[in-house]
Amino acid sequence: MKIAVIGSNMVDLVTYVDQMPKWGETLEAPSFEIGCGGKGANQAIAAAKLGSQVMMVSKVGDDLFADNTIANFAKYGVDNRHVKKVTGCSSGVAPIFVDKNAQNQILIIKGANNYLKPVDIDEASKDLKQCQLLVLQLEVPLETVYYTIDFANKNNIPVILNPAPAHPDLDLEYACKCDFFMPNETELEILTGLPVETLEQIEQAAELLLNKGLKNLIVTLGSRGALWLSQEKRVHIPPTKVDAIDSSGAGDAFIGCFSHYFVQTGDIQIALEQASLFAAQSVIGKGTQSSYPSLEQFEQFKKSITN
Ligand code: RIB
Repeated sequence: MKIAVIGSNMVDLVTYVDQMPKWGETLEAPSFEIGCGGKGANQAIAAAKLGSQVMMVSKVGDDLFADNTIANFAKYGVDNRHVKKVTGCSSGVAPIFVDKNAQNQILIIKGANNYLKPVDIDEASKDLKQCQLLVLQLEVPLETVYYTIDFANKNNIPVILNPAPAHPDLDLEYACKCDFFMPNETELEILTGLPVETLEQIEQAAELLLNKGLKNLIVTLGSRGALWLSQEKRVHIPPTKVDAIDSSGAGDAFIGCFSHYFVQTGDIQIALEQASLFAAQSVIGKGTQSSYPSLEQFEQFKKSITN
């Protein structure tokens, strides 16, 4: 059973801040960490850490970060044969700022991720056809995302689209061709133009989006859990209360874990419950991929919260 992630990789430059400087001001921040990130890579590593067979289709630059990113996929058993270098280009990088409440602000410089093109899907097509799930985000060109969705539909492979970061030009007809459309509440707000402060408002915005013809809409809500809406169902997955220190990459942890359990069980409810727990565990660690537990650590965490 294989999962393919077709998407981004970035180098995360994470600064922990007491407060952000004003324009023109210099402020000291307490600490800094560098790690492998990118929404696509994070989702791939999360699923791989749980034991899924994962393949990555992605682009790195030809700088000092590239080999480390390729080696990082190998370290976690992710098939990196379709991670290619782009000559004369930088790798994707993401300066991230995390505050004392574990909230994050992220800038992305896409670099080589801009060069993941439909031809790369063609080149990987033989291997992609062996997969049981394709997972997409929006840190690579939209034309590649659309092309992959059509490929998945043609080959009867279920597909997840995580519309992150939100893209004003996203064609919702393509969202409707996906089995799962998985925004967070900020992306839901941008996609609908509706407020998403309260759970009630989120439900209203989600209903509006679902009515465009989506199959399964899953809205990740951070410390408020997740919402699953389909044409038949309305389900709220409750949050797991933890003392969060860094929420960056928690949405990716959720999607990677959901992918793993969905492919394992075919059961959306089970996959969502596991994903919610896995994302909760990820926010008690620092960084993105570095905060994702192994299967063994995840099992221990689940035992610890039920005791
Ligand atoms: O979702 C978190 C990710 O967003 C980070 O790893 C960063 O690289 C950006 O892609």
